[in-house]
Amino acid sequence: MSVYLGIDIGTSGTKTLAINDQGTILADADARYPLYHPKPLWSEQDPEDWWKATIRTVRAVMRKAKLKPADVRAIGLSGQMHGSVFLDRNQRVIRPAILWNDQRTAAECAEIEERVGGRRRLIQMVANPALTGFTAPKILWLRNHEPRHFERTVHILLPKDEVRRRLTGELATDVSDASGMLLLDVRRRQWSRSLLAKLELDPDLLPVCYESEDVTGQLTPKAAKLLGLTTNCLVVGGAGDCAANGVGTGVVKKGILSTSIGTSGIMFVHSDEVQIDPQGRLHTFCHAVRGKWHMMGVSLTGGGALQWFAQKLCPELKRRAYDVLNQEAAEIPPGSEGLFFLPYLAGERTPHADPHARGSFVGLTLKHGRGHLARAIMEGVAYAMRDSLEIIRELGVPVRQIRVSGGGSKSPLWRQIQADVFGKSAVTINAEEGPAYGVALLAAVGGGSFKNVQEACQATIEITSSTKVQRRARAVYDRAFPEYQQLYRSLKADFARIAELS
Ligand code: XUL
Repeated sequence: MSVYLGIDIGTSGTKTLAINDQGTILADADARYPLYHPKPLWSEQDPEDWWKATIRTVRAVMRKAKLKPADVRAIGLSGQMHGSVFLDRNQRVIRPAILWNDQRTAAECAEIEERVGGRRRLIQMVANPALTGFTAPKILWLRNHEPRHFERTVHILLPKDEVRRRLTGELATDVSDASGMLLLDVRRRQWSRSLLAKLELDPDLLPVCYESEDVTGQLTPKAAKLLGLTTNCLVVGGAGDCAANGVGTGVVKKGILSTSIGTSGIMFVHSDEVQIDPQGRLHTFCHAVRGKWHMMGVSLTGGGALQWFAQKLCPELKRRAYDVLNQEAAEIPPGSEGLFFLPYLAGERTPHADPHARGSFVGLTLKHGRGHLARAIMEGVAYAMRDSLEIIRELGVPVRQIRVSGGGSKSPLWRQIQADVFGKSAVTINAEEGPAYGVALLAAVGGGSFKNVQEACQATIEITSSTKVQRRARAVYDRAFPEYQQLYRSLKADFARIAELS
């Protein structure tokens, strides 16, 4: 029997699962770790926590599925994108990793555009504009603000690739995750030498870049011992969590789009050709499918908004919080009786690219209660994602089917809201594990159990339900959506001033 492991180094925790060579899940395990916000808008994590969580979850999965070390043929790695791990010449971590949802780099984004001769030119070079969450601005931030740390930096890795280093000793990444560093020529699927030169960054800082299904190394004796595996175990390129989720939900051919409501809210669409939004509102990245790309819109706060509400404002609900909030929200009519929520609790990426944007309830009256607020949050997240969908449609990328995934989409109410706000049925599939499942499939391709990614998805992923659009709700949302869009325009300047105050 060949077993494959998928390990997803997420923001709130690491998830590991084991599948057999038919793609059936044998066991899974999670381990959580903290997120640090040493200053407003900063977001950091300790890479050591990722490694400990990797060991814990792999061992748990092996135990639960009663696997022998030699059963595991290959591992696929997925992880939160864009995070920066800075290593010294002894490959020791220099400072906490700066994460995707960190917003400290506005000045460095401007510096990058200036160095290359403007935003348009940058988009031509690397398919995307400079956004605060991306990796390149973080590297410049280190050079500008912590020069001593920068001088000691010899390698820069993404979160999952730091785990790969500890597994295999190799400094490597994959094209999908590398795309989010803003240093990859996405069209050619290789590092952009010309951009690196303009930024005065040494190309040797970067790892070797592979296609997602390619084998990048094998476990070191030390890692094999810690994990309870063998040194024959291969590690494939894997993927950034968005592309990994794309594979895990079967978004590997034209016309299929997926949404994922996790901490963030993602709209992800497969593309056979490299297609670039000239305004840079949507990201164009390499897909985890050889020779294919994807476009994506990212709302920085998706499920994280409801989590914030449950934890910070309804602590008394404890473990029942999501059930109670869903129940109360379901009793409120679509449109939340005039209440809007802008989910910009961590600034916003698509389409505003505005680190100063703030979360807001607008339209509160004495009539509104907790259920209204919960529903308005769910609707606000769906509107934020519709912003991305509108751009995808405007660029002429075909969307025949919308697959919904992520923790938020487990809620039937949030699925219905998505169908009604997007104006298209919300389809669910049998594979609910998202990125971890996607990279386990990539490992199965790299390990030889499937011919390619499409074949792996075809063999394992099927549709399980379809939530149809409710005509009346859709009409309400179609009328409300332009109002939602207008609210950001009205508040934009206020957000900037408020940000200065804090
Ligand atoms: C994608 C992004 C987030 C992180 C979080 O561009 O920033 O989805 O990958 O997991």
